[in-house]
This record gives sequence, C-alpha cells and structure tokens, in this order.
Amino acid sequence: MQEGRDGFSSRFGVIAAAAGSAIGLGNIWRFPYVLGENGGGAFFLVYMAFILMLGVPLMLTEMSIGRAGQRNPYGTFRLLAPKTKWYLVGVMGVAVAFLILSFYSAVAGWTLQYLYDAVTNSFEGKSSSELSGMFDSFTSSAYAPSMWTLVFLVMTGSVVVAGIEKGIEKYTKVLMPLLFVIIIILDIRAVTLDGAGAGLKFLFQPDFSKLDSKAVLEALGQAFFSLSLGMGTIITYGSYIGKKENLISSATSVSLADTAIAVLAGVAIFPAVFAFGIQPDSGPGLVFITLPNVFQQMPGGYYFSVLFFFLLVIAALTSSISLLEVVVSYFTEELKISRAKATVISFISVGIFGVLCSLSSGPLKDVKIFDKTVFGLFNYVSSNVLLPAAGFLIVLFAGWKWARKSVSDEVLGEGKAETPLFKMFMFIIKFIAPFAIALVFMNAVGILKL
Ligand code: TRP
Repeated sequence: MQEGRDGFSSRFGVIAAAAGSAIGLGNIWRFPYVLGENGGGAFFLVYMAFILMLGVPLMLTEMSIGRAGQRNPYGTFRLLAPKTKWYLVGVMGVAVAFLILSFYSAVAGWTLQYLYDAVTNSFEGKSSSELSGMFDSFTSSAYAPSMWTLVFLVMTGSVVVAGIEKGIEKYTKVLMPLLFVIIIILDIRAVTLDGAGAGLKFLFQPDFSKLDSKAVLEALGQAFFSLSLGMGTIITYGSYIGKKENLISSATSVSLADTAIAVLAGVAIFPAVFAFGIQPDSGPGLVFITLPNVFQQMPGGYYFSVLFFFLLVIAALTSSISLLEVVVSYFTEELKISRAKATVISFISVGIFGVLCSLSSGPLKDVKIFDKTVFGLFNYVSSNVLLPAAGFLIVLFAGWKWARKSVSDEVLGEGKAETPLFKMFMFIIKFIAPFAIALVFMNAVGILKL
C-alpha cells in the first residue's frame, strides 16, 4: 500500500466491496431482460461459459494490474508501461464510466421510484397489465424519472466523497449479504407459483436455434458488464487491495457471488414472467413489471417489496460508487483536484447525460442515433463494444506486454514459482481470451461468418 493511501481494512472488506461493484442492476435488472430478449437457456449457457473462460481470468488480471500500479487505471498503465500508449486504456475507462453511469443512474432512478411505490403500497390490487401500464406511464413521463436520476447521483456522490474505508466499505459489508437472503426468499415464492415450470425451462433448457451471433455478443457484453470488467473499476479496486491478499481467491469469490446473484434473480423472475403471462422479451422494464406481481402473491408482500427495492437501490449504489470512483480517482490523482471538487464536476457532467437517458423513454423517445435512443445507445455500445474492446486490450497487455514475472508476483506472491494453474491462466490471457473476444466480435458485425 502506498504511504497514506486509503485502502480496504480487511479481507472481507475487499471481497464485499468488489462484489458490491459487480453485483448490481447488471444482475437483477439487465441479466434477466437481456436473457429474455435473446431466447433464454442457450444464452444462459454461453453466458456461463464466458464468465468462466474469460470473466474470471480477466478479473484476476485487472486485480493484479491494479494492485501492481497502486493508482487509478490511467496512472497505472503509465507506471507499468512508461513511454507507451497503453495509458489510453485508462483514459478509455474513464470515458466509458461516464457512459455507463449515465444510463445506470437513470435505471437506478426507476428503482427509487419503485421503492417509493412499494412504501406507499401502490402495487396492491393491480393486475399484471395494470402493472405494466404503471411502468410505461412512469418511464414516459418527463419530470419524475429525471428527478430520481439526480437524487440517485447525489446519493452516489455523497458516498464517494467520504472515501474508501469509511464510505464504500462500511455500507457494502452489511447490506450485500442481506440482498442475498431476500432474493432467496423471492425465489422460493416464484418457483412455487402455478405455471412456474415454463419459466425454469425457458431459463435452463437451451434451445440453440434461438441463438444468433448478436446474442453471443450480448452474452459476452453482459458477462463483462456484470463483473464490472473492461473499464478500470476492478483495476481501481485492485489498487486498494493489500499485498498479502490472495488475488486468485478474491477474483473467484467475487465472480462466483456475482454469478450466483444473477442466476437467483433469473429464478425469481422467469417463473413469474410465465405465471403472469408477461412477455420474456419485454426489455428493460421486465423486472419492474414482473416482481410487483410476485409480491402480491406472498404473505407479507408489502414488507418484502419495500425491502427488495431498498436493497436493489443499495446494490445499484455500491456499483455506481465504483463507477464514479474511477472518474474521481483519475481527477484527483492526475489532475490534482480535491476529492470534493472532482465529485461535483463528475456529478454535473454525468447528471446531464443521465437526465438525457432518463428522458429517452419519454419526451426524447423519438430522438434516435443509429436507430437507438440515447439510453439504448449508451447501454448497447458500452457493454457490447467498449467493455469487450478494453478487456481485449487488458489481456493483451498482461499477456504480451507486462513481464511474466510481474504477473506471477502479483497473482502468486512475490518470488513464488509458477504453478500449473498459473500456466493455464497465462495461456488463457495470452491466446484464448484475445482470440475469443475478437471472434465473437467479428462474428457479430459480420466480418466473419461462423
Ligand atoms: N457490474 C455492475 C452491475 O452489474 C455495474 C458496474 C459497476 C460496471 N462498475 C462497472 C459495469 C464497470 C461495467 C464496468 O450492476
């Protein structure tokens, strides 16, 4: 740890914070709806393969790079590869953080509205189609979604200003385990609904005829998005991890926890989607129109709905602080401005784009760029283009540019001999990962037809 540098105080703190970054709207909001749009089971299998084959190794790579660098991603690449252009990967991360934060805070704004609705018991007695209508009319209005987006950004900023140990770590440690428990309770209710079987089948029974090259790219993008990879988040958090921590076990635990929550969210949602006659490809509104139906079917549903949306807000918050932290650490360390000032500047700039994203389902819904709304464009391009592209560069860096000895010093510990597992890891990041990412990409844009 650099002298005087803020950092995580305990091992559980590291995992909780990194898992807090990974686990968020990506698992509970994005995973189910992207899976629903891409045919279900086959997408799920491909997603799992990407998590194992690319996600875990890339998470380990990012943690190693971050801990070796002890600073923000830009400064880290400057330090590890002086007089080269690798620092551009860090710059790209800061830019992508802006894009992701914008649509992320728009969706987080929806969760705030839903928390409010839950508290005021607004789902009670509504039919499935009324609940869908409720989502549409809320997201297409002008004022409320934008206001909630800004409220959410203020919440994010206030945690980031407080710094790492007193801010981020304190909250995640307690609230993440609670989220896990509440989703399991929802799962139990969902799988015991009449007609739940069709949902489980949709989720777990692969039908490869529904899988096309675009879906494979979406699975890759979703894997990166969900694990917070390809943007410098994990590099930044890696820089706060103490030298004694075992990165292999941290990277696997975080990936495992993240994947478990996505699967549990799928199990809570798809049985209900089928039981209540909702379309699985309803898009970004899927969770918001599905779960309120489930709450109505449970004893104590009122309390569960309040608790669930509260925890969803917290999950979103622990992720958005990790996104903002990348931008703020870059501003404070490279441009030498204070943490408070950096946070305010980020708030204003992200706030503008966040409001544009939240207006994309309403007043700005006809403003299309490449046939997508601002929200749709930011969401699609960041996950399916920019994260994989940066992930590609990061594995290339660690596989080919960085000294193998430095990689093994971080991954295994200083001066330790290479193990078979490490050799396999190196093989993945040198050959398999770059190749696989490039193939998926070229296949989806049609340069290559598999
Ligand atoms: N992974 C988070 C989620 O699933 C979102 C997130 C945080 C993220 N940091 C990131 C996504 C960095 C991509 C890159 O909600």
